[in-house]
Amino acid sequence: MAGSDDQYDALGEVYERTKHIPTGLAERATLLTALPDLRGRSVLDVACGTGFYPREFRRLGADPVVGVDSAGEMVAYAREVERRAPLGIAYHRHDATALPVLGVFDVVTAVWLLGYAEDEAALDLMVGNLRANLAPGGTLAVLVPNPYADWDVLADYGRYGYEVVRSGPPGARQPVVVRVHGDPPFEFDSFYWPGGVIEGALARAGLRDVTRHATAVPEDGRGEAFWGPLRRSPSFAVFTARA
Ligand SMILES: C[S@@+](CC[C@H](N)C(=O)[O-])C[C@H]1O[C@@H](n2cnc3c(N)ncnc32)[C@H](O)[C@@H]1O
Repeated sequence: MAGSDDQYDALGEVYERTKHIPTGLAERATLLTALPDLRGRSVLDVACGTGFYPREFRRLGADPVVGVDSAGEMVAYAREVERRAPLGIAYHRHDATALPVLGVFDVVTAVWLLGYAEDEAALDLMVGNLRANLAPGGTLAVLVPNPYADWDVLADYGRYGYEVVRSGPPGARQPVVVRVHGDPPFEFDSFYWPGGVIEGALARAGLRDVTRHATAVPEDGRGEAFWGPLRRSPSFAVFTARA
């Protein structure tokens, strides 16, 4: 995962802008709608980046909240935000393929992690480690590059704040470059697994009730004329499963 760490070490804080562009607002709405009520629930967020979602979960009443990421700069930034405005979130540096059992969590989340598994063996390791941190009956929620995306919609995705451009031939995963608009513009690599692979990994880990959730968009008055294509073919997909 050195390549992935390098790009996120370089991005750090600027990455968080992706949460405030239209696709980021829909991503957040879809993920939060898919999760159970977090009040009083323990949450582990793996690949937490800058800590954006751990802070959201804490504000929604989750307790305790733990964040993990493999990129040192991301963990350092998340800890700095916590130092300045403490919410009681603990951050640790771990690679998800070698994640130890950090506790027994009611909810485990992994947002934009599983695309970075280099092959299906690494994917199984990651999902197995996520599951190992779940309480019996607990919920795993993963947000991944949408395996069922319509590439014509993604080609015209700039209206939602970034472009998704195929950057190589489809191997086991489709490599893409995500070009984020704004000042300054920036880009990062991502990978789209084909349909069925994520669901297969969740089932192989012994998880039940694997569900893909409908896309939720903000009620901001822009209506279907704006949100329709994203709703039909978002760049992300949210799956939940139960231990
Ligand atoms: C696109 S960012 C998403 C960050 C955060 N989940 C969010 O949505 O704001 C992907 C994150 O995955 C982390 N990551 C990539 N591979 C990882 C691995 N093998 N183990 C843990 N974290 C990893 C990166 O360091 C980066 O912070």
